[in-house]
Amino acid sequence: MKYIAIMGLGTIGRGVYDLLKENRREIAERLGEEIFVKRILDLRDFPEEEIQRLVTHDVADIIEDPEISVVVETMGGVEPAFSFEIKALNAGKHVCTSNKELVENKGPELFAAARENKVNFFFEASVGGGIPIIRALTGSLTAERVGRVSGILNGTTNYILSSMTNEGGTYEEALNKAMQLGYAERNPAADVEGFDAGRKLAILASIITGRRVCFGEISTEGITGITREDIRYSKELGYSIKLIAEASFEDGAVTALVAPRMVRPESALHPINGVQNGIVVCGNMVGKVLFSGEGAGAYATASAVSADVIEALRRCTETVYSGWSSEKADIRDVSGSRYRYFVRAVGYNQEDYDNALSIFGGGSIINAHIQAEFGLVTPEMTEEEFHKKSGELIGFIKSIRIK
Ligand code: HSE
Repeated sequence: MKYIAIMGLGTIGRGVYDLLKENRREIAERLGEEIFVKRILDLRDFPEEEIQRLVTHDVADIIEDPEISVVVETMGGVEPAFSFEIKALNAGKHVCTSNKELVENKGPELFAAARENKVNFFFEASVGGGIPIIRALTGSLTAERVGRVSGILNGTTNYILSSMTNEGGTYEEALNKAMQLGYAERNPAADVEGFDAGRKLAILASIITGRRVCFGEISTEGITGITREDIRYSKELGYSIKLIAEASFEDGAVTALVAPRMVRPESALHPINGVQNGIVVCGNMVGKVLFSGEGAGAYATASAVSADVIEALRRCTETVYSGWSSEKADIRDVSGSRYRYFVRAVGYNQEDYDNALSIFGGGSIINAHIQAEFGLVTPEMTEEEFHKKSGELIGFIKSIRIK
């Protein structure tokens, strides 16, 4: 019999508790032992529920309990989660977490504490919810030289954009629904401003390079500026608008960007809708590998956390991941990156279209039947070139990079 503790009984923590009960028989068969939740740390009490008997408000009840061998941290945020996890690792307990903010901020310290104490620190659920991407990068794809990783890494924004596109819903309606479904962060600004996807991209890029990629150094744009008009143009083109997190790796440097993109139907990410996440890893030997599945929500995320718990118990005599070092990766800014761009501009007639086409050196005009404006898809050029040219276009409204 193995005992674990859960720190934080929010959406994910409760999902882990429920999953371990629901799948108890299968898990016991696979592990050879039953797993029991012995303690739950939360600020609140749950007097109407049977779990109340497990609830503690004092972390020492977990840290000082020698029977508890794995701690699940699903509190979120950096503190006090970091201090609690360090205490748990130093007490010889394995730690499994879905806390991407913490992993991105404090990964190297946590990996070092796990190594020193000969325990495991697992964080599969920190990226892509239920999608097994961390273990794939550190395991099955570990022989690859990865040139690029592109993904839809935030379920909330994908849900909002899909709903605005396919059901014609408003941004506010879709965001409220995503919050009700437990997809969004406590402060959904982290989702819609692209910060959550940026943190997840930083984790993936850190695993790939073995060095620390800081979220703060990643150019990040959110989806708050996406309008119904943009969606009308994307439909006209047969494209879809998605928040894409992408990093490329060349000559030891990382170029990373999180931004809404118009995604062409040929892209493997085009059919990824709703709360689904999709991640394409391009390796030099294996080619392109696509991972997809539910990227947010209680049970998908709890599935990844619970698998980490089982893995920690199976590998209890060795430290499996080394994660990445505290040395910072070399980050290149995106000014040299090349894209095609979708542009919206004020204009009425062929003269306006011709002027725009000549500024961008060609491209194609799109008419979404919006009064007094037109759209244009530019040829491929660098960000730097695009900013110069778009500055010359009188009537420029906005642009969205194409994927
Ligand atoms: N708010 C996150 C999302 C939760 O929507 O993807 C999963 O990390």
